[in-house]
Amino acid sequence: MEKITKLNGRLAFVGGGNMAEAIIKGILAAGLIAPGKISVGGHRGDRCAYLHKTYGINATVNNNEAVKDASMIVLAIKPQKVAEALDETLVATMPNKATVVSIMGSVDLKKLWEIFPVNPLVRAMPNTPLAVGAGMTALAPDNKVSEAMLAEVKAMFGSCGEVEVVSESAMEAITAVSGCGPGYAFVLIDALADAGVNAGLPRKLAIKLAAQTFAGSGKMVIETGKHPAELRDMVTSPGGTTIAALHALESKGVRGAMYDAVAAVLARSEALKGKK
Ligand SMILES: NC(=O)c1ccc[n+]([C@@H]2O[C@H](COP(=O)([O-])OP(=O)(O)OC[C@H]3O[C@@H](n4cnc5c(N)ncnc54)[C@H](OP(=O)(O)O)[C@@H]3O)[C@@H](O)[C@H]2O)c1
Repeated sequence: MEKITKLNGRLAFVGGGNMAEAIIKGILAAGLIAPGKISVGGHRGDRCAYLHKTYGINATVNNNEAVKDASMIVLAIKPQKVAEALDETLVATMPNKATVVSIMGSVDLKKLWEIFPVNPLVRAMPNTPLAVGAGMTALAPDNKVSEAMLAEVKAMFGSCGEVEVVSESAMEAITAVSGCGPGYAFVLIDALADAGVNAGLPRKLAIKLAAQTFAGSGKMVIETGKHPAELRDMVTSPGGTTIAALHALESKGVRGAMYDAVAAVLARSEALKGKK
């Protein structure tokens, strides 16, 4: 597929919070679209004024105004705001051909089809490192999304990280691994830094050492293409210090804790669906 260097048409966001801002920052920095072709519908005037002043984009408290001539519409509101924000007037105002890209957690294509019966739909699961250009986004398009439009959606998220196209059935597990994953990584970085402070290091240095070690190790897995276990074997000499540390981590059940974390997301997500 040809690499997209420009987004065609106008882009709208419903909701102009943290994730929307991270995407806007990425696409503007990549020169994928001019600021004047982006419109954000947010429900607070001060937030709209900030987005307009900072990025030169159009931002309005009227969602209908934002979506009326868009060719792609990103739904970047919280799932609890669906009924309030995606009402009949909004759906009637938006062009039928506009591709709707939802980044809302736990809102599946089935629910989106009920709201948008005619538009092409993409369910997306990004994560917060998007804000620093190192996000991980999974995309599940429905069968109304053309190759050309999917290429544009990939280019949009690709401007702020990595992208994979997946089948929707994988989305809940993906949410549990990469959607929520930054939370797990922050806890591990904080814990390693604390241990460093306990070993006598200044706090600021300990945090830098821990964060750069996680960032560098992740980069190494991706760039070498080697299995993480192979890279681990390369740093564990027989009878050495690292294997002694790994023994301590395994004794505390660090691997089992990861299985439990992912299973907890799936269970919680199921319970929340039941409440809707
Ligand atoms: N953060 C993550 O790690 C992450 C990862 C993957 C997916 N997501 C999904 O991304 C979506 C956005 O998350 P976020 O972190 O960007 O949340 P956020 O910062 O709270 O952004 C949501 C924005 O929507 C605005 N809003 C509320 N009601 C609205 C309405 N009726 N019309 C228009 N705008 C309205 C909110 O304004 P107020 O603040 O004034 O209410 C806020 O600016 C969520 O569905 C979340 O599940 C988030």
